[in-house]
Amino acid sequence: MPILQTENLVMTYHVGKVDVQALRGVNLSVEKGEFVSIMGHSGSGKSTLLHILGGLLKPTSGKVIVDGEDLAAVGDAQRTDIRRRKIGFVFQRFNLFPTLTAEGNLKLAEHIHGKEGNGNAELRREVLQLLKLENKMKHKPLELSGGEQQRVAIARAVINRPAIILADEPTGNLDSENSDIVLKMLVQLNRDLGQTIVMITHNPEAAGIARRKILMRDGQIVSN
Ligand SMILES: Nc1ncnc2c1ncn2[C@@H]1O[C@H](COP(=O)(O)OP(=O)(O)O)[C@@H](O)[C@H]1O
Ligand SMILES: [Mg+2]
Repeated sequence: MPILQTENLVMTYHVGKVDVQALRGVNLSVEKGEFVSIMGHSGSGKSTLLHILGGLLKPTSGKVIVDGEDLAAVGDAQRTDIRRRKIGFVFQRFNLFPTLTAEGNLKLAEHIHGKEGNGNAELRREVLQLLKLENKMKHKPLELSGGEQQRVAIARAVINRPAIILADEPTGNLDSENSDIVLKMLVQLNRDLGQTIVMITHNPEAAGIARRKILMRDGQIVSN
C-alpha cells in the first residue's frame, strides 16, 4: 500500500468573488521510502498540493490517504493529530523559534509530539550526528548560518521519525554550497532512516537527486 495517495484532488481558493483553481484533479501515489521531487512554474499548485498532503489545508474535493488515513474525510482536530504523528515539514524560511536554542527547538518539537521529559536521547543523537549539528545545540537561530538553521529545521522535522517529510523549496534561501550540504543530508536521511521524502524545488540539480521527478502545470501532474 502506498504511504501517500491522492485521488482526483481538487482545490479551489475563493478570493472575493473570484475562484482560483489551484489543483484540478491530482492523482499521486508515493511508496514508503521513496524520494520524490516536484517541479513546476510558480503558481502551478506545488505548495497547495504539499500543504494538503501534510494536512495543513483541506481540499475542496478528492481523497488524501496518508499512511492509511483519509485526511479529506476527517475534521480539523483529527487532521492536526494525524499531521503531528506522521508528517515533518521543512520550509524555505526555516521557521525556527528565534528565542530558543537549536536544542530548545528540537525539544519543543518532541514535546508537541507528546514525548515526556527528555525525549528520546539516542534518536536525537543519531539525527544530530547525521546532520552534523552536535556542536551547535546551544546556539540560537541568529547565531547559526542559513545552512545550519536549515539543518536544525530538518532535524526538527525528523526528530519524531514521522512517516513522511514534506519539504517546500528547502534550499530556496541557501547559497549553492549550503544547498549541496542540505541536499546530501536529505539523501542520507532517506537512505539511512528510510524516510519518505517529497520535496518541491525550482533547482534542477536538487530535483536530480530525487529518484523520481514529478512535473506540475496548471494544477495538474503532467509527468510522473
Ligand atoms: N491562500 C490562497 N488564497 C488564494 N489563492 C491562492 C492561495 N494560495 C495559493 N493561491 C493560488 O493558487 C495557485 C497555486 O499556488 P501555489 O500552490 O502556491 O503554487 P506554487 O507553489 O506552484 O507556486 C496560484 O494561482 C496562487 O495564486
Ligand atoms: Mg510554492
